[in-house]
Amino acid sequence: APLLESVSGVEIAVIGGSGLYNLDNLKVVGEVNPLTPWGHPSDHIVISETPSGKRIAFLARHGRGHYLTPSEVPSRANIAALKHIGVKVIIAFSAVGSLRQEIAPRDFVIPNQIIDRTKGIRDSTYFEKGAVGHVSFADPFSSDLGDLLFASAERACEKAKIHKHKTLVCMEGPAFSTRAESHLYRSWGCDVINMSVIPEAKLAREAEIAYQMVCMSTDYDCWREEEEAVTTAYVIGNLHANADNAKRLLVDALPRVEEALANGTLTSVKELQNASTYAVMT
Ligand code: ADE
Repeated sequence: APLLESVSGVEIAVIGGSGLYNLDNLKVVGEVNPLTPWGHPSDHIVISETPSGKRIAFLARHGRGHYLTPSEVPSRANIAALKHIGVKVIIAFSAVGSLRQEIAPRDFVIPNQIIDRTKGIRDSTYFEKGAVGHVSFADPFSSDLGDLLFASAERACEKAKIHKHKTLVCMEGPAFSTRAESHLYRSWGCDVINMSVIPEAKLAREAEIAYQMVCMSTDYDCWREEEEAVTTAYVIGNLHANADNAKRLLVDALPRVEEALANGTLTSVKELQNASTYAVMT
């Protein structure tokens, strides 16, 4: 696709995780590669046209060849680059492990809470060097966007159960958890586990962008004693089925998000307008 000089007014972005490297069911318009104060994003941002003729952005979190580990993803550049082209809403996909029997591999989960178990080695804020700000992060996702995506998933995803109001624990990786850690997270009430929601969700909040993650279950992690421990080969098998369902979900959801943005009915978008303005301590 042609590399565009600059674009603006692209209000909706999709971030793809492991297995979801493109939206090949949409018509590609071009690519952009903005240079932000935090460097370039993970990969070129692909601009596509939805059936209604609106443009949306797609960014592969790990790069389109999956060459960035979760710890290496340049999240500050990613979110800043999306903000730069006008993004107000981010739909972020991520492969997750299941910590609950009822959440089977290939099920989708719309989480509403996060426990951060990353190790402090990721650049996680835009507030530093004198700009001291504490955004509210009690509810880390945009629940009205979550409700919309849940409904779309229920309509569009094939052979998958859809779960909502779940807690996502984010670990550092790249190695998977030990069995003891997996049991610990279950005892804390965590339902699914990944390596990617932090700091992405925090930075989106600081950037005043409505953000919801859609979790795509690939494995049972390692808490089931009778189960083989999670392996990469097993995860990859489920990634492909999940990517197909993610694309189906978006076919249903994108026109509805566009309409909600046009009508002003996504209240999280309005509520976030001043998330960072009021966060600065003076
Ligand atoms: N991503 C997919 N499966 C995972 C697991 N079991 N732990 C952490 N991240 C994951």
